[in-house]
Amino acid sequence: MTITRVGVVGAGLMGSGIAEVLARAGLDVVVRDINDEAVAAGRGRITASLDKGVSRGKLTAEARDAALASLTFTTEIARMADRQLVIEAASENEDIKKAIFAELDSYVTDPDAILASNTSSMPIIRFAQATSRPDRVLGLHFFNPAPVQPLVEIISSVVTDPAVADTMEQFTTQVLGKSPIRADDRPGFVVNALLVPYLFSAIRMLENGYASKEDIDAGMRNGCAHPMGPIRLSDVVGLDTLYFIGVSMFEETGDPAHKPPLLLSRMVDAGMMGKKSGRGFYDDY
Ligand code: CAA
Repeated sequence: MTITRVGVVGAGLMGSGIAEVLARAGLDVVVRDINDEAVAAGRGRITASLDKGVSRGKLTAEARDAALASLTFTTEIARMADRQLVIEAASENEDIKKAIFAELDSYVTDPDAILASNTSSMPIIRFAQATSRPDRVLGLHFFNPAPVQPLVEIISSVVTDPAVADTMEQFTTQVLGKSPIRADDRPGFVVNALLVPYLFSAIRMLENGYASKEDIDAGMRNGCAHPMGPIRLSDVVGLDTLYFIGVSMFEETGDPAHKPPLLLSRMVDAGMMGKKSGRGFYDDY
């Protein structure tokens, strides 16, 4: 099938980035969040990122305007009814995500439509089971910032129709220009299974006084050629998101490497969410 009508549920950091990628690919995109403030914030993030793309010479002013024109913002999930692909990018809360999948199942009319989750770590099968069409559900995990990072993890659950994953591989490659990889429906898939223990180790180093945050970050930037160090990257991912990914992975694996450090937990309690809230390990946002 040729996918032209797509939807994104959630206009937060990831949802707005994914919506931007879809709009830049020339698709008709409906973006839904729960209230006008969240919708306005998502629209503002997308506009700012498109403007940044223009100023970096990545797209023309005409392409920016066309992308903005192809986006429809709404608070009504019923607007997803005619979509051929919907990507859920709500916060990392299993009950919220399950409820969204149940709603999508009741509104999206095309039986061939594909329902995807951008979850960073939660089992795809639990969202599939919230629908009457579990074979049409899979994980499509984008990376932050979505307009810049080439990777998409394609995660099949034990009941995903292999043709659905194949369609998404073609779509992400040929339409979105991304570089997908396949991952099994296991905690953290491929990237977060490696990344989360690394970020948590860095936060524990800081917590235990091994080194300053600046030196931990400079170590990985200058010693391993990472574009940013782990403490800064934690801020960019979002400290609440990182915390909830850890909670979900630890619940399934019991691996102490997946247990969120106490310092992270306290910062989330304090409302320090990293770059998106203006204050995390760093406050220069
Ligand atoms: N639109 C288009 N292109 C853009 C852009 C935008 N909005 N913003 C930046 N770019 C392009 C720039 O033009 C530049 O391209 P070139 O290299 O071709 O010149 C490139 O992106 C980098 O931009 P800058 O050097 O100007 O740096 P920046 O500060 O704008 O962005 C960064 C830096 C891209 C975030 C970089 O530091 C980076 O890659 N950091 C690591 C990010 C990372 O690891 N993300 C994964 C997080 S894990 C995750 O998301 C999964 C999860 O579940 C937790």
